[in-house]
Amino acid sequence: MSIALLYERSENDENGIKLTAEQLGVPLIYLPFRKIALAIHKDGYTVKTKGKDYTSTVKDVAVVLNRAQSKNRRLYASHTLELFDKKVINPSQIEFACYSKLRTLLHFWKEGIPIPKTVYVPCDPYDTTKSGTRISNEKDIADLLENELASADGIVIKPDAGTHGNKIVLSKNREQLITNIEQTTPSITNPVGIIAQEQIKKWFYDLRIIAFKEKGKAPVCHPVALARAGFKDFRTNTYLGNLVFDAKLPASIRELAVKCGKALGKEHDAWVFALDAMINVGENKTADEAQLKAELDKAAVAFKTVQKVKVDETRLTDFPRWNSKLEAAFHKFMGTAPYAKIKSVIEENIEQNQQNVVFHEANSCPEFWEQTRLIAGINVAVPLIKSAQSMI
Ligand SMILES: Nc1ncnc2c1ncn2[C@@H]1O[C@H](COP(=O)(O)OP(=O)(O)OP(=O)(O)O)[C@@H](O)[C@H]1O
Ligand SMILES: [Mg+2]
Repeated sequence: MSIALLYERSENDENGIKLTAEQLGVPLIYLPFRKIALAIHKDGYTVKTKGKDYTSTVKDVAVVLNRAQSKNRRLYASHTLELFDKKVINPSQIEFACYSKLRTLLHFWKEGIPIPKTVYVPCDPYDTTKSGTRISNEKDIADLLENELASADGIVIKPDAGTHGNKIVLSKNREQLITNIEQTTPSITNPVGIIAQEQIKKWFYDLRIIAFKEKGKAPVCHPVALARAGFKDFRTNTYLGNLVFDAKLPASIRELAVKCGKALGKEHDAWVFALDAMINVGENKTADEAQLKAELDKAAVAFKTVQKVKVDETRLTDFPRWNSKLEAAFHKFMGTAPYAKIKSVIEENIEQNQQNVVFHEANSCPEFWEQTRLIAGINVAVPLIKSAQSMI
């Protein structure tokens, strides 16, 4: 019985998992999950591409690492494989919770984990009656949100299943709120209704924290977070061009991260999450902002070497060689003076405001090979593979 890597397309993370498995001496089976036919019938099931029959391969697999990138495909894959009697990381129940920010937050809230105040209005911005009349609900939705979030600085609206900061908008007044509600049309990332949150008064960074569990062992939070930092936008996603720093986590935040893992992992034997957290620092900004901005500008220049390697096409033809170049570039970036300065500001600010942390999301299939591995110092492929081994 073996471990399989299920994927849609082989990207850096999937290549990284393959490379790590080789280094650990763990054989991996590869299962495509895109142009395949999955058939269920009276004699059992079959899994075939146009050129190859994977049925017996799937039958021999004990544990599947689910790396389908689309949230929908990932949920289908986990659920299907569980009914084929496979163990899956992460299990479908976890995928179901992580698929939706609201569901994730409900689990956190139930366990008493601090979250941003969140409001869900199941109504869409407009309805069309059977006779074709359009009913506008924007103002009613705005009233409902404003009533609940009256004390908030600003109101953040976000698609329930969105990623990369997409369509996350901030409203500072009623006019902006109405416009933002109008623009939240039902879509695959936001099937129904509006999710809004109080704007957390974080400073220039947010945190990505890795928590995982192997069967038979206590859950673990990696002690160093990936801090994503920049002043350009209230969203600090790296996808939007922000920079990355490593930040040591106080024990109180690590304990909460483990609690988040348990809140979602329930009774499951093994799981791996990347949790997103913010620190509500309010006015407690522990360094001069103008100086900090100047350091960030310098760090951005130093980061250019990393960006050059990232887009280097040799990653497609010689992944191990490209990976060595990537490691060297990150190492150089982390060795610069602006990096050290910003890192120390972030760490000091976290330490001083740790009691104001809020958790707002859990990612069940995180990107990790580049930033999380090389900045936060955790190769997520290792807990993935070890968790899989622990279940055989
Ligand atoms: N309530 C909030 N108050 C202030 N900032 C917020 C709030 N919610 C989200 N943000 C910021 O917006 C960015 C994206 O948020 P979030 O993680 O919810 O979205 P996402 O699209 O799932 O991003 P990712 O794909 O990177 O996980 C983060 O940098 C976060 O700090
Ligand atoms: Mg996020």
